[in-house]
Amino acid sequence: MSRQDLVTQAYQSFFGQAPQLTCHAPGRVNLIGEHTDYNGGFVFPAAINFGTDIAASSRDDRTVNVRALDFDNQLVSFSLDDIQFDNTHSWSNYIRGVLIALMKDYPQIKGADFVVSGNVPQGAGLSSSASFEIAILKCFASLNALPLDGIQAALKGQQAENEFVGCSCGIMDQLISAMGKKDQAMLLDCRSLEIKYSALPAGFNLFIVNSNVKRGLVDSEYNLRRQQCEEAAQVMELDSLRDADLTLLEANKAKMSDVAYLRARHVITENERTLAMCEALNKGETAKVSALMRASHMSMKNDFAITTSQIDELVEIIHQQLGEEGGVRMTGGGFGGCVVALVPDHLLTQVQQAVETQYQAKTGLKESIFICTAEQGAFA
Ligand code: GLA
Repeated sequence: MSRQDLVTQAYQSFFGQAPQLTCHAPGRVNLIGEHTDYNGGFVFPAAINFGTDIAASSRDDRTVNVRALDFDNQLVSFSLDDIQFDNTHSWSNYIRGVLIALMKDYPQIKGADFVVSGNVPQGAGLSSSASFEIAILKCFASLNALPLDGIQAALKGQQAENEFVGCSCGIMDQLISAMGKKDQAMLLDCRSLEIKYSALPAGFNLFIVNSNVKRGLVDSEYNLRRQQCEEAAQVMELDSLRDADLTLLEANKAKMSDVAYLRARHVITENERTLAMCEALNKGETAKVSALMRASHMSMKNDFAITTSQIDELVEIIHQQLGEEGGVRMTGGGFGGCVVALVPDHLLTQVQQAVETQYQAKTGLKESIFICTAEQGAFA
């Protein structure tokens, strides 16, 4: 049964009638451009064929009733006029946060009954929470006929994370979930929010492996990286690292901490790599794509310090098989989660077998492999 049918059936059984509508928002994988979004830089993600589905109907009052199929069918109810943080059902805070953000522009929205379920692995760096937020926004926008576009929705999702959930993330995850396109990756300028789509190369697979490393301290380390980037920008008297280059960084090296210097070097070089990767992919220059993904991984490992030994091992296993015929790197915020690889058709079985036979033997952890497709965003 499709997830859409699942939520529709569950809606019918919980609320005793058919839902008015269903909606879907995808998770994402980032091909390159990590920790650049909150520095006003460039990212190059694709939306994937994993996501969040909702079946919903609007109500005549201001009550929200939601059943979460992935959390033992838990029921949460609250009023749009009194939205509080919920420590018991922490998943519901994404809903609460986006509705507060939405009501800043649309205070008169109606309540709703809905059922939600998703299949983006949680905590794996594939943006299960952004997909949840964008699905909720799509649902309320449709039920209330709001003129909300994908960029506005993404900003509302980010606001929910920053101001209600308490994660100071950038705009990438919400924007790709809203604006992704089938079979395309999306080059996003996180300062102007300008978007350029780029077809994924034929004959390559979007090969994603979850390291299943238990992520710890993710939020605190993430926020610390942000601060270190801000410190470097401040020393260089810039609003953001987007305006920095290596010459300026070297000239200011003595004025900043060693850590701030390394973090800034990652962001500056990652922005360059992201633009270069998009161009190389468009021109079919596979060896260049391979080198750029490798350099990105090394920069995340050495300068930004967000990989783990198991992730590095996984990247090595795949890199050994791919050589210059494809690329591989960690994807997402770091400290665990997934690696992403572009794997040509003729190496797919070989790469998969290498991961299956070597990763667990080397690290004691069992991987999960997802061969993905690039999909349409909820507002695209
Ligand atoms: C997380 C955040 C994004 C981005 C990435 C790192 O996914 O939510 O905004 O900063 O990490 O690139």
